[in-house]
Amino acid sequence: TVRVAVLVSGRGSNMRSLAAAAGDAYEIALVASDKPEAAGLAWAREQGLATFALSPRGIGKPAYEAALDAALREAGVEVIALAGYMRLLSDDLVTRWRGRIINIHPSLLPKYKGLDTHARAIAAGDAVAGCSVHVVTEELDGGAVLGQAEVPIEPGDTPDTLAERVLSAEHRLYPEVLARFVREGTWREG
Ligand code: GAR
Repeated sequence: TVRVAVLVSGRGSNMRSLAAAAGDAYEIALVASDKPEAAGLAWAREQGLATFALSPRGIGKPAYEAALDAALREAGVEVIALAGYMRLLSDDLVTRWRGRIINIHPSLLPKYKGLDTHARAIAAGDAVAGCSVHVVTEELDGGAVLGQAEVPIEPGDTPDTLAERVLSAEHRLYPEVLARFVREGTWREG
């Protein structure tokens, strides 16, 4: 069973879907957050999951990431799953965890990297939207795509109604891709 850390900044609905699917393939060894007040973190604590919470504010990003890295190692984490973690990881942290960090992004990459993905998809007149799970590299939302799910964009969709439809797809896609990723264990090769 691969020990996975889930990093959240907010509500943590993807974290909950990952936790619900934990079992033979992977277990949630740590839930970590850069936002000590994140709702997802409170839920993780209630579940009795190990948590790490620290704000970079005041101490700066290098000190924050050093503490995060120490907590991940202390917890025996092998793979990091970003789930609504709204902060860029430094090149240094990405290098230390090369090939072991994955992220879910609410667009069909390589389209709409970054923020406001749903508003941009609607404004472009796209017929489909969706989500992608990808390997995290130094390039924002730019690493190898591991899996995607599509949903239709309906007439009258707003960014919020589309986000809801995409989020349901995220909750199905992420546990499936994480389970496959840990079974394949490609990070062990390099
Ligand atoms: C999800 O839609 C996720 O794809 C997105 O934030 C939301 C988090 O929701 N992530 C990003 O935009 C990453 N740049 P959740 O906290 O309920 O999982």
